[in-house]
Amino acid sequence: MTETATPVLDFDPFDKAHRANPYPYLRRLREQAPIYRNPLGHWLISRHADVTAVFRDKRFGHGTHLLQQNNFRRPVEGRSRPFIMLDPPEHTRLRSLVNKAFTPRMVDRLEPRIQAIVDGLLDIALERDTVDLMDAFAYSVPVMVISELLGVPREDMDSVKELSHVVARGVDPDFQHTPEEMKIRAKAFADFDEYFRGLLAQRREHPREDLLSGLAAVRESGSALSEGELLTTCILLYVAGHETTMDLIGNGTLALTRNPHQLEKFRENPAIAASAVEELLRFDPPTQMTRRTALEDVELDGHLIRQGEQVVLMRGAANRDPAAFHNPDDLDLTREDNKHVAFDGGIHFCLGAPLARLEGRIAFTTLVRRAPHLELAIDEADLRYRDNLVIRGLVDLPIRLKG
Ligand code: HEM
Repeated sequence: MTETATPVLDFDPFDKAHRANPYPYLRRLREQAPIYRNPLGHWLISRHADVTAVFRDKRFGHGTHLLQQNNFRRPVEGRSRPFIMLDPPEHTRLRSLVNKAFTPRMVDRLEPRIQAIVDGLLDIALERDTVDLMDAFAYSVPVMVISELLGVPREDMDSVKELSHVVARGVDPDFQHTPEEMKIRAKAFADFDEYFRGLLAQRREHPREDLLSGLAAVRESGSALSEGELLTTCILLYVAGHETTMDLIGNGTLALTRNPHQLEKFRENPAIAASAVEELLRFDPPTQMTRRTALEDVELDGHLIRQGEQVVLMRGAANRDPAAFHNPDDLDLTREDNKHVAFDGGIHFCLGAPLARLEGRIAFTTLVRRAPHLELAIDEADLRYRDNLVIRGLVDLPIRLKG
């Protein structure tokens, strides 16, 4: 068995050129060392076949009991872990309780509301020639949708916005954070708990037709959902529900402006919307990587991954693997059999995928119809990416809406 050590493949994730375009590095990684142990002892896995195999392999999980051995993410004392970071049976129990409240009917019912939100935001944006699409549209659509779905009042959205960004940045591994940032993250969680505790209390008294009332009722019905679990679940749904969808819309719009022939194809045939959304998710996925722990010693293609070691599944690399996708570096909105891993795979497959797909479909179709000649309003070199390592997205995206 071999343990690869190819230091030439190390990179600075905050290097401006890498953030602007991580795909050349990811390609080198996949081609030269597809199962690569970095100097921190983490295994970077970049081939599509290996990534999807690990998703389904029960020998990998979150292994909370093993986490003290690594520097990736230490459990926060006294806090329940969100089910996105739990293994069965806790994961199964919590996910199925949420599924009881977050039903496909609830998502279907949102369709006309999403269309109205998208149109309302575009009415305002189209009054100007150039807008920051992140602020005016990409962020606003999903945050308004998830707020409505959960039952977060519109007047509170601005005050929880900063908390949400801190929590989303907090998804990055602990070693990427300064002690000061760790304190800010802990405070954001505490503030979020406080916020949802108050809102849940109101919903218990006066239930409404929203997800918070549904989740509160699941707990009231005597199901095994503690108050701490309920609070972390609300934060998970709220943050996962918009921080990623925002980057689907932002990264996706940028990809369309860079590929005018594809944009034209979409404009001429909006019926391709469903496959267009899948392709935009594949091409520049909002979450670039995810972590699992080896729950026992595992041999993967000749490499020994020892119990407790961390594997990092590189979605951005897997989604561009030529073994899984024809001409993977080309954007092809009508791509068939698109087995991208932007929503993960296995038991943690994104719970909100149907909602994200619906939002993406309505947002892109309406944007392309109402602003058919959209184009980037700044030089490519001036594009700015947020500092997050896991979630990949732009700070702002100046777009000319009128050609
Ligand atoms: C384009 C938008 C979205 C993307 C790219 C995305 C991506 C993902 C990914 C990759 C995971 C698995 C993470 C891992 O295993 O490390 C995940 C899980 C999850 N997502 Fe999403 N997501 C999106 C939208 C949403 C929305 C709209 C919601 C909620 C309304 C949501 C809720 C969740 C939840 C609750 C989980 C945890 C599932 C579990 O652990 O069983 N996501 N998402």
